[in-house]
Amino acid sequence: MKKKMIKILNKKFSKKITCLTAYSPSIANILDGNVDMILIGDSLASTLYDMKNTQDVTLDMMKMHGRASIRNIKKSISIIDMPFNTYNTKTMALKNAKSLLKFTKAKMLKIEITSKKLEIVNFLNKHKINVIAHIGVTPQSYKNFKKIRALGKNEKQLSKLVKLSIDAEKAGAKAILLECVTENTAKKIQSAISIPTIGIGASKYCDGQVIVFDDLINLSNKDRKPKFVKTYMDFKKLATKAINKFDKDVKLKKFPSKQNTYF
Ligand code: KIV
Repeated sequence: MKKKMIKILNKKFSKKITCLTAYSPSIANILDGNVDMILIGDSLASTLYDMKNTQDVTLDMMKMHGRASIRNIKKSISIIDMPFNTYNTKTMALKNAKSLLKFTKAKMLKIEITSKKLEIVNFLNKHKINVIAHIGVTPQSYKNFKKIRALGKNEKQLSKLVKLSIDAEKAGAKAILLECVTENTAKKIQSAISIPTIGIGASKYCDGQVIVFDDLINLSNKDRKPKFVKTYMDFKKLATKAINKFDKDVKLKKFPSKQNTYF
């Protein structure tokens, strides 16, 4: 089978696409150029604000975190999430999308969709907004994340998701973000569409992979991580070591030393 060319905006990728989340300038600065895409995700709800779900995230929160982070994104493609209830109608979506993109300077906008939201993808596309359609598990529809289960396990769910991906491409989506779907579903979607698929918990049959940065380095406060999370570094452990050393140094009067003192 002919290899699918991965293209997002005006960038071509010969290898799989990587994407991580950032909500702050310092993390954006570390990620920039080291991954292909950086997502200012509304997962900041649980990761930064200890919220139970993403439904209380506001446009202002996304604007502030987006602007601060994207200032430090020079090489990677920046994506920002539209929060819950900000794209319920075409006009509402366009007004909020324009305002979010103008304020943050993000290159792409991600919205969570079902078939009911296809007309919004189409409308935003007609207004030259680069939309990533988030399908599969769409966290904004869950009050309780414990109820989330992988989708595509039966034929009905699978064909619904394949159809939705095809329709999202027709509506002008530039990429599909596939969350928590079975391997077979991802495989079928990937071969049914020509725009790239970026997966989270969506198997290796995607053109790219995204993960929450805080999960990648074990910074998040979550006691139970989803199966799809892989921790690449134990930041919590390393930070605790540094904190204990600082505490000890201060108590032993080793810090501040002459080097850290103004004379
Ligand atoms: O908000 C987010 O970080 C996301 C990822 C989980 C893909 O949408």
